[in-house]
Amino acid sequence: MLKPSRYTHTAIALHWLLALGLFGTFAVGLYMHELPMSVTRLKLYNWHKWAGVTILALSFLRLAWRLTHRPPAGLPMPEGQRRAAHAAHGLLYALFFAVPLAGWAYSSASGFPVVWFGVLPLPDFVPVDRDLAELLKQVHKWLALSMAAIVLVHVAAALKHQFIDKDGLLRRMRPGAGA
Ligand code: HEM
Repeated sequence: MLKPSRYTHTAIALHWLLALGLFGTFAVGLYMHELPMSVTRLKLYNWHKWAGVTILALSFLRLAWRLTHRPPAGLPMPEGQRRAAHAAHGLLYALFFAVPLAGWAYSSASGFPVVWFGVLPLPDFVPVDRDLAELLKQVHKWLALSMAAIVLVHVAAALKHQFIDKDGLLRRMRPGAGA
């Protein structure tokens, strides 16, 4: 059977929804931790946590969709580039889970259990521990920064395909483009 040439509508919707969510959550994360203690800072911390947990849940959905639906056939490209793209996509998937889980664990270890959107209390899966919290804070930060670096390479590669190789790669992930 011939493979489709574009991702499914669901895969496209999840890709752009998560891209937007990750960008916003990352930007708020960088901004909020520089703020002096205030109501705004506390609100931003909560929104950052709630958005991050939502991203975690959507990432499970996305992974389940990816594992049960065939992606479109790969475009012709040198073997090295194909391998690099696969490696980057694999790392990104791993980080979509690792970054929010590290943030959640950090919050628990600091003694601030997460209550999702103020309604759903989430379990703590690490004990309250000051040293552990300090370690998890660094882990969360460096995983998030690594993810941002890989996303930049991912975007640069997509733009190279679109505008230098002109192989129509973006069409595969563009919302609303015909089959
Ligand atoms: C996938 C989504 C997430 C991204 C991209 C993200 C990204 C970031 C970034 C870039 C920072 C600033 C790090 C620094 O420069 O020190 C940060 C801080 C923080 N994040 Fe996240 N985060 C995510 C999810 C979460 C979740 C789910 C939680 C908790 C439930 C969380 C809790 C925190 C906290 C408490 C801080 C403040 C660290 C401090 O005290 O300085 N994050 N995050």
